[in-house]
Amino acid sequence: MGHASGDARDAGALVLFGVTGDLARKMVLPALYRLIADKRLDLPIIGVAKTDLDLDGLREHVREAVGGEAGDAAFQRLAGNLRLVAGDYRDPATFARLREEAGGLGFLVHYLAVPPSLFSVVAEGLAGEGLNREARLVVEKPFGHDLASARKLNDELLRHFDEDHLRRVDHFLGKEPVEDLMVFRFANTLLEPIWNRHHVRSIQITMAEDFDVRDRGAFYDANGTIRDVVQNHLLQLLAILAMDPPPSTDARAQLDEKWRVLRAVQAIDPSDVVRGQYTGYLDTDGVRPGSTTETYVAMRAHIDNWRWAGVPWCIRSGKALPTTDLEVVAELRKPPVTMFRGGAEPTGPNLIRFRLQPDAGVTFDLLAKEPGKQQTRPVPVSVDFTKVLGPMEAAYVRILTDALSGDPRRFARFDLVDESWRILHRVLDLPDQPLPYEPGTWGPEPAAKIPPGGWHEISTAFE
Ligand code: BG6
Repeated sequence: MGHASGDARDAGALVLFGVTGDLARKMVLPALYRLIADKRLDLPIIGVAKTDLDLDGLREHVREAVGGEAGDAAFQRLAGNLRLVAGDYRDPATFARLREEAGGLGFLVHYLAVPPSLFSVVAEGLAGEGLNREARLVVEKPFGHDLASARKLNDELLRHFDEDHLRRVDHFLGKEPVEDLMVFRFANTLLEPIWNRHHVRSIQITMAEDFDVRDRGAFYDANGTIRDVVQNHLLQLLAILAMDPPPSTDARAQLDEKWRVLRAVQAIDPSDVVRGQYTGYLDTDGVRPGSTTETYVAMRAHIDNWRWAGVPWCIRSGKALPTTDLEVVAELRKPPVTMFRGGAEPTGPNLIRFRLQPDAGVTFDLLAKEPGKQQTRPVPVSVDFTKVLGPMEAAYVRILTDALSGDPRRFARFDLVDESWRILHRVLDLPDQPLPYEPGTWGPEPAAKIPPGGWHEISTAFE
């Protein structure tokens, strides 16, 4: 398995496969535009797609995608940098034309914003023209459908690009609030001494979305919540939260620590999982009749190492939930001796909340004395990062910057992908029908039993 820190050569040109597709339109092109507007990027961009558009048509398509105005200098620079190779990815002639177009441009970054079934096809097409040399390959998610298919895909890509020249996108790793977790943990001494089984009772990770699967029925039905966001985004979050401090700041040290902690996560048992499906899902276009795909999951993971043994790591995510929020709540153990009460109830625990979306920040729920009474009340001590530190950069801007520069730390190294599929392999494609839940609720009721003592309410957004 490749453990080198990656070939970090700057790109001479970006080759964007799927330039007319959905992902390019929504994410990649707007990020390119931002970088060009900020004068952080100026290089040839060769769009590749099976399209009837000519270069002018592509420019118009790109203008619409990025919302560029006529006379907009940044858009003019982007348009001026654009080139087009139209053709089928299965046709070697497409790659011959690409070779001509890319000749003399130096190190190439091939960014594959195409369906995963085409990753190997494109890699092979590139290799057929020698375009895999002096080049890096960047692939979007999902990487595989399970452990076996991820390994097969990886083997196919490795035939043409070695691990140093491969980048697997997980756009959560480009989110500044996600990286903040690492800074919070390792730049401050406050947390680290208590960040273990002696002081933490449970960790709860919630990724809630208040919208349903929308027009992605066919894609979603073939995947479900576990594949769509747990295998990648949420296990990456778990790794960042649970890992030991890396011995150095280099990318490899960081990736190694993430791998070490994922290695220690037990394969999740079906009895630690509650799956749900919102009512109405089966009527969505593209969803199979009687589909058993989950649109909600709550699960408990166990980490078998000295830091975390016995602490449940609880993850829940779903579509059609009451809010759109990403939050991590650490519930600390209570003091060993009870001296105070919170009214009729015993005092609650301290909570540490990391808010990641839609706003970013940290809140400590501390206990304070209720004035005039001999009892406690939880009070939040909060910092809103955006307010204090300023706006954060969009995830794709960072992903693209790293794709072009080669910094590997915000990508999923294959050994991490491999571990994450292993962790989930027993709970993919469970045969039973997921439990129904009404849209706008917090999923099926039995999910409440996943964390000891139930889920903590998500904090409301900062004022
Ligand atoms: C994607 C999933 O990877 O992440 C979507 O396929 C999900 O289902 C999305 O909605 C969430 O990403 P973000 O950045 O909008 O929170």
